[in-house]
Amino acid sequence: MQSRITAISAYTPGRIVPNSYFETIVDTSDEWIQTRTGVIERRFTAEDEYTTHLCFKALRNLLQDNPEISVSDVDFIIVATSTPDHSVPSVASQVQNEFNIPGCGTLDVASACAGFVYGLILAKGLIAAGTHKKILVFGAENLSRFTDFSNRNLCILFGDAAGLALVEQSAENKIFDSLSGTDGSMGKELYRSSLSTLINNVPVIADARTHQNGRLVFKWVVQTISENLIKLADKNGLNLAAIDWIILHSANLRILEAISKNIGYPLERMPQSIKYFGNTSSASIPLAWNIALMDGRIKKGDKILLMGFGGGMTFAGLMVEW
Ligand code: COA
Repeated sequence: MQSRITAISAYTPGRIVPNSYFETIVDTSDEWIQTRTGVIERRFTAEDEYTTHLCFKALRNLLQDNPEISVSDVDFIIVATSTPDHSVPSVASQVQNEFNIPGCGTLDVASACAGFVYGLILAKGLIAAGTHKKILVFGAENLSRFTDFSNRNLCILFGDAAGLALVEQSAENKIFDSLSGTDGSMGKELYRSSLSTLINNVPVIADARTHQNGRLVFKWVVQTISENLIKLADKNGLNLAAIDWIILHSANLRILEAISKNIGYPLERMPQSIKYFGNTSSASIPLAWNIALMDGRIKKGDKILLMGFGGGMTFAGLMVEW
């Protein structure tokens, strides 16, 4: 069975947080933040707003923009998130309840910033197996709840958002080959602890806040993603010049610039969501995709490489045609 992505949507919360806010709480500057990360502002959830609410609003946006689409026959919901409202029940099951979707499988995926692309790969596989036909894949994060606002290395990076794709069985195939990989030995370089105080038997700061070795993560990402973008295009029988758009996880504008330079692919053809939304982890790819659809850059028939990467360290890439 073949599949395609039939709709993309997103939602970002209303509270806009400019760089100047961080100048009031830590020793930093708008100039430092923009120079090192490219971030100008980000959005944070309201007190009573959680990842489930971001998903509900993103799906409502999708239905409003595509009145011909109904979710009553959706048969599986995947939510990529590292910031679920609860460990149990899943965010996906709360989406099922909110939209009253009968008899629907639900699954949360915990692959940090790579989660949305992992979700698309799973959706393609379920449809290819012939067991499912219509699948919602979300990337949604409430990262501001887990940020240590006294850590100037990290608090300036993150934002909250949700994005989603509708993946459907299709007469024509528009979701092509994927690849994925992990280096679990890098686990403690980007983490948020839960029950244990050890990662790979090494003690870590177990305060349920995000921690990272920024320099090491930067280097790993630039090298791994540059190599694997070329491999992904090759696996799909194309060279990068034949790809219309590359949408990477918007981790940091400097990472996107370094990858663009490494692989000789123009930055202008790499839609991003980092400047006005910060690093929104699993939500950043559908968010950037939605922006590029709304402003008319991405057109029907365009070939797109997607690649998410992050905590694990892990990555997942996929080629699609819009
Ligand atoms: N404002 C001002 N100075 C800051 C600062 C801030 N917000 N954060 C750190 N600094 C300081 C450091 O204390 C350090 O000062 P020192 O030289 O006196 O010790 C200096 O800036 C350089 O710190 P460093 O951590 O080496 O900066 P960097 O150039 O590596 O930039 C990141 C930090 C986090 C922006 C960068 O490492 C990065 O983007 N890494 C990847 C992060 C990422 O994308 N993670 C998600 C992947 S999914």
